[in-house]
Amino acid sequence: MPPGTVGVIGCGLMGAGIAQVAATAGFDVVVREVDDALLKKGLGALDASLARAVEKGKLAADARDQARRRLRGTTALADLAGCDVVVEAIVENLEAKRALFRELDRIVKPGALLASNTSSLSVTEMAAATSRPERFVGLHFFNPVPLMPLVEIVRGLRTGEPAVVEARAFAAALGKKAIVAPDAPGFIVNRLLIPYLLEAIRAFEAGLASREDIDEGMRLGCGHPMGPLTLLDFVGLDTTLWIAEIMFREFGDPRFAAPPLLRRMVAAGHLGKKSGRGFYEYGGQKESR
Ligand code: 3HC
Repeated sequence: MPPGTVGVIGCGLMGAGIAQVAATAGFDVVVREVDDALLKKGLGALDASLARAVEKGKLAADARDQARRRLRGTTALADLAGCDVVVEAIVENLEAKRALFRELDRIVKPGALLASNTSSLSVTEMAAATSRPERFVGLHFFNPVPLMPLVEIVRGLRTGEPAVVEARAFAAALGKKAIVAPDAPGFIVNRLLIPYLLEAIRAFEAGLASREDIDEGMRLGCGHPMGPLTLLDFVGLDTTLWIAEIMFREFGDPRFAAPPLLRRMVAAGHLGKKSGRGFYEYGGQKESR
């Protein structure tokens, strides 16, 4: 599929990862943030991740330099006009996403593929804000994007088959394995992952076992790379709460209801690794909650 130009909107954790993977795969990439400070921060994280890939022997230094040359940061949406694919990775807020896509629809060339990295919002509702819902898909990447091999392609109610075929080719060009999911809250992975993570919190809250034993049980007993409480810290407790609330609102099923402890921890600012404290403490010795 490369060469071609990929636009990425948002240079946070997910946007920076998507931009990195696309540039490394040979695409020209334009990544847009709302202001220079956020752009600088995002590109700094992207550079650090590229440096880690070189350090780990996953990427040659000259391939890193070439990827970096293919990548351009901007704060102007108009710079995405010539993109072949645009992937949105901004805040998980439907209205903010719909407003962005309304604008992108006017700016980005006809025929370009529009995609959202949403983890749980409706792709059909976002597509409806554009004049080209048949060219709209969900492209749900997993954190950390450079390491996780999966992309969920989400088919909205009006997504055309050619868009799904192109999304598959795009995922393959990025070196990712694609699965196609329907536009139902949580798609496939979060539909299964979120109740599991919430259940781990409930078990901990009920005093079933220590956080270490819960994590070690799933890590060593089931071969998961991280136990559920460590994974919650990694994903972010605020992100998990947000996804759970969307799923609970849509399904009304108690499996998706946020446990009180999750709400309290988010209210306290214990968001996980990103805030330095979640179920564990970071930046020093892991300590109890
Ligand atoms: N670029 C490329 N490769 C890198 C890299 C980088 N920046 N950093 C590390 N690597 C490579 C390493 O060389 C290593 O490769 P190897 O297995 O061939 O030796 C591999 O990646 C693992 O790296 P590390 O040894 O440094 O790290 P760990 O072994 O501790 O693994 C992890 C880290 C991959 C994050 C692992 O713990 C894991 O898979 N955790 C689960 C993550 C997960 O479940 N993510 C999904 C969250 S849900 C989500 O995102 C959806 C959302 O909607 C909520």
